[in-house]
Amino acid sequence: MTVLEADRLSADSNRRRDPISSRGAARADTVLAVEGLTVGTGRADLVIDVSLDVRAGETLCLVGESGCGKSLTCLAAMGLTSEPLIRKSGRISFLGQDLSLLRENQLAEIRGRDMAMIFQDATAALNPVRRVGMQIAEVLVVHRGLTWSQAMKQAVELLASVGIPDPAGRANAYPHQLSGGMNQRVMIAMALACRPKLLIADEATTALDVTTQVQILKLMKELQAETGAAMIFVTHDLGVVAEIADRVAVMYSGRVVETATVDDLFERPLHPYTRGLMACRLHATTTSHGRIAAIEGTVPSPSKRPEGCSFRPRCPYASDECMALPALRPIAGIYGADQHRAACHFAEDFARAGS
Ligand SMILES: Nc1ncnc2c1ncn2[C@@H]1O[C@H](COP(=O)(O)OP(=O)(O)OP(=O)(O)O)[C@@H](O)[C@H]1O
Ligand code: SF4
Ligand SMILES: [Mg+2]
Repeated sequence: MTVLEADRLSADSNRRRDPISSRGAARADTVLAVEGLTVGTGRADLVIDVSLDVRAGETLCLVGESGCGKSLTCLAAMGLTSEPLIRKSGRISFLGQDLSLLRENQLAEIRGRDMAMIFQDATAALNPVRRVGMQIAEVLVVHRGLTWSQAMKQAVELLASVGIPDPAGRANAYPHQLSGGMNQRVMIAMALACRPKLLIADEATTALDVTTQVQILKLMKELQAETGAAMIFVTHDLGVVAEIADRVAVMYSGRVVETATVDDLFERPLHPYTRGLMACRLHATTTSHGRIAAIEGTVPSPSKRPEGCSFRPRCPYASDECMALPALRPIAGIYGADQHRAACHFAEDFARAGS
């Protein structure tokens, strides 16, 4: 049995065992819809024509190598891009509301109350001059109307739930007094505190040891089952994807190149880049930084993308046709008709070949 098959089997049996699994919890109501988003600087486009949506109770995983535009897509979805980044086109709607029509104070209110993002670098994201317990409690006071004493009590409970030993003592610590992994857990506790309708987790658990990672993924799924939150989860770890995703979007060089239900994607990846990622997983080739390493070559710099398909210099199937940019289009899926999309000129051929 391959590593991937083992991942899928284990994830499937976990879902059967685990009633809080996010699979099957998806509902028709869209929480976040991103349409045709392009973000860049004056010099280059960094996220290009990205469209994504995520529904209540659903988990969308974003995968791709370093520099593919996953974090920028998440930041733009939260309305958090700033100089030198410019949103050049696209529409982002949250619960049906166009975010570009809101004033900054309205946006800030939605961000604090209804959307939460767990950043890659928690230590940088936390306030260095406030005790971590106070930072969590503040969210509860401002957005959930608790008194300070109720909020402090709940902050300690939240710290315990993300696996922080001596949570009452640690609540009094400043971020610089805690390790990077501890701060990551504080940040997760803070994000869960406001019970957001949309939770964006950007490599949120990558820095944690496996036991804590499992504990926190379980906690996030519990919260999701309880609140019906939509979740966007950025990860390089296809094992985590198999465990928690309902749908997956694969990004390469600023674009979404394939999107499908998790079952479709694992059973029949259609884009050569996705197949490369899967092969990396099979050969367990991640770097010491946890990045996907083994597709030969590197992601092109945004200012030096090759003409046509950006994956062309690394693609074993590249031909003259690939000098033209392939459109992301529906390819009949195995499990979800019309849900499988791929941006490769030969995706239909790969689908027919059943490989
Ligand atoms: N503030 C910025 N100004 C200019 N370029 C930026 C900025 N932030 C990101 N970039 C560039 O945009 C591209 C996408 O970056 P992004 O951080 O979204 O990648 P990522 O997929 O999240 O990578 P990683 O897996 O390393 O986190 C990269 O080429 C990066 O260098
Ligand atoms: S369009 Fe061509 S270069 Fe791009 S992934 Fe498909 S086969 Fe490879
Ligand atoms: Mg990133």
